Amino acid sequence: MDQVKVNLEDREIPRQWYNIQADLPTPMKPPLHPGTGKPIRPQDLAPVFPMNLIEQEVSTERWIDIPSEILEKYLLWRPTPLYRARNFEKLLDAPVRIYYKNEGVSPPGSHKPNTAVAQAYYNKVFGIERLSTETGAGQWGSALSMACQMFGLKCRVFMVRVSFEQKPYRRLMMSAWGAECLPSPSDRTAAGRKILAENPDSPGSLGIAISEAIEDVVGDEKARYSLGSVLNYVILHQSIIGLEAHKQMEKIGEYPDVVMGCAGGGSNFAGIAVPFVRDKIYGKEVRIVAAEPTSCPTLTKGPFAYDFGDTAMTTPLLPMYTLGHDFLPLPIHAGGLRYHGMAPIVSHLVKEGLVEARALDQIEAFSSGVQWARSEGFIPAPETNHVIAAVVQEAKRAKEEGKERVILFNWSGHGIIDLAAYDAFLSNRLTPYELPDEEIQRALKTLEGLPKP
Ligand SMILES: Cc1ncc(COP(=O)(O)O)c(C=O)c1O
Repeated sequence: MDQVKVNLEDREIPRQWYNIQADLPTPMKPPLHPGTGKPIRPQDLAPVFPMNLIEQEVSTERWIDIPSEILEKYLLWRPTPLYRARNFEKLLDAPVRIYYKNEGVSPPGSHKPNTAVAQAYYNKVFGIERLSTETGAGQWGSALSMACQMFGLKCRVFMVRVSFEQKPYRRLMMSAWGAECLPSPSDRTAAGRKILAENPDSPGSLGIAISEAIEDVVGDEKARYSLGSVLNYVILHQSIIGLEAHKQMEKIGEYPDVVMGCAGGGSNFAGIAVPFVRDKIYGKEVRIVAAEPTSCPTLTKGPFAYDFGDTAMTTPLLPMYTLGHDFLPLPIHAGGLRYHGMAPIVSHLVKEGLVEARALDQIEAFSSGVQWARSEGFIPAPETNHVIAAVVQEAKRAKEEGKERVILFNWSGHGIIDLAAYDAFLSNRLTPYELPDEEIQRALKTLEGLPKP
């Protein structure tokens, strides 16, 4: 019988996270204070994040111990299985062996709790009583709701309005885990009210919801903000995916030619990729590919620039690929990929040529996702469909070149709460969409006058 799953025992779970900053051949540019234009200092971030997480954000330690309280929660679903997608391979009929890390087995159904649990724990230890956050697709909001419940914290989630309306079940999951979920833009914050005054029908965006969540905590000593992607420490926490995958591949004597993930803010992609990027830095031959949507082509069409992480320009200026902080992506069905920026770590790796980026259309993504569901069974999240489409392209190329290829990718989440998006695709209501160059040029105007990296 052919092996399909590679499992690790509970006792084999990684005890440390891996920090790619320790191995970067050239250091990253620092985030800047928007007022002074100088590198941000840890105390500047203190009203928004707890100091123990700020320390992780700026750390260049290679390995950081995972506290036992976090490991205990991780063990509820980790180590996650590494699967070989034999049925999908047969369907593609290409000389490829496809392995995927199934992050959909977590309680909320994605990779997001890897950092949600860690963030809730560190806030709790720091004496914080309430977290506020934004969510696009609802995956992050539901993960943080669960994590807050696990550590006895209150949780408020600003959910991008279009997803709030499209995804009632994610909202209900948040309620089941005891959180409060509001549609964003909301009338609870000055940032939300300003947007509503200009456009009462605003579909919202991650940039707007981030502004609301930050405003909601500043000035409340017992509350802090939590971000589900983009930051260095989020990628640190997500490195557990790649560390496990590295061990699992080693167990069966395999090593990938290509490592892939979909990229919204960049956290699940970087999570699986960083241990392999490290190998690449030290001479191993491996390609590492980030898959993003053509409707929000941050890495493939945006410039590398200093920009705000949110629409109301309250965050530090981050060195990243960006489409401009007031970029309003169309309400495509992969809410988690609709972010104007990209994690500074991922941006740096792309800029340094260690990572390639590819943009995929949502129709191609959903066709591949449906092929996947019909062969492998598991229904992928709309975000995950983008990397599956990139895997299909990779397999086609291998076939054309007549070269064997081992592909490893991150199956970032399941889509069984995203069936409205599948309904739109299956009843031909989804249309291909490539962001027009004029829209990119318009959105980039907001970068004028900001410092250049
Ligand atoms: C299933 C899934 N995959 C991917 C993403 C994209 O986020 P990131 O790039 O931070 O992994 C999201 C975000 O909501 C998601 O829910």
